[in-house]
Amino acid sequence: MRLDVVTIFPEYLEPLNVSLVGKARARGQLDVRIHDLRDWAHDKHNTVDDTPYGGGPGMVMKPEPWGEALDSVIASGEGRPTLVVPTPSGKPFTQQLAVELSEKPWLVFTPARYEGIDRRVIEEYGDRLDVREVSIGDYVLAGGEAPVLVMVEAIARLLPGVLGNAESHRDDSFAPGAMADLLEGPVYTKPPEWRGRGIPDVLVSGHHGKIARWRRDEAFRRTVVNRPDLIERTDPAAFDKKDREMLSILGWGPGPDGRFGRVAPDVEE
Ligand code: ADE
Repeated sequence: MRLDVVTIFPEYLEPLNVSLVGKARARGQLDVRIHDLRDWAHDKHNTVDDTPYGGGPGMVMKPEPWGEALDSVIASGEGRPTLVVPTPSGKPFTQQLAVELSEKPWLVFTPARYEGIDRRVIEEYGDRLDVREVSIGDYVLAGGEAPVLVMVEAIARLLPGVLGNAESHRDDSFAPGAMADLLEGPVYTKPPEWRGRGIPDVLVSGHHGKIARWRRDEAFRRTVVNRPDLIERTDPAAFDKKDREMLSILGWGPGPDGRFGRVAPDVEE
């Protein structure tokens, strides 16, 4: 997969040389290219921003440097990239979107500073490319670079061969499939006793069925406390008899429409 990032802070993307993404680059699984937007700003001060039309606080990123930068990046490759525009007013970045983007051959990220990029840039490339305006959460950061790091890490770990163990993302919280709509439960490793604390016996029982059931029960326990909305929105057909028993223990049951909701006071984790 090829990834381009156009930014006024190339050094902010240094973490892409480290850890999982860094190793994927070194192995040639990821072709990451970082570009300095100011290379396409031609005045004496390499200006990339100006005051907003209509007034108001802050500055807006000028269209010309972005246009030249994106034309140049697009012309340097085969085919059309998907343009990912980080903005707090975008659609939420979810595991599902990470999976979708991980299947694209080429992504170009345009992290902005200030109050964002002149709208005409998004419109211009929207006519030619698949453009995704994406928010990583309901908070406002000073720029889109940290969101790019977040998205690239979520996407890169899904690429074939990037994680050591291909099974590793099967049980991820938010992974499509068996554990869909549940948070992952707790995990343990050696030693079997630490500061007087043991581990759940079932995990050393060797009984795979019981372990799987225990993990799912713990996932319910955690999800009802931290993300009750995930259970409320789940089609109840996804809950088997054992799931319903666990939900009932946790004070949850079906409402008039069949969907599950809290029917008794919260059970603490
Ligand atoms: N830029 C500033 N805040 C952001 C957010 N929450 N998501 C994506 N890009 C952003």
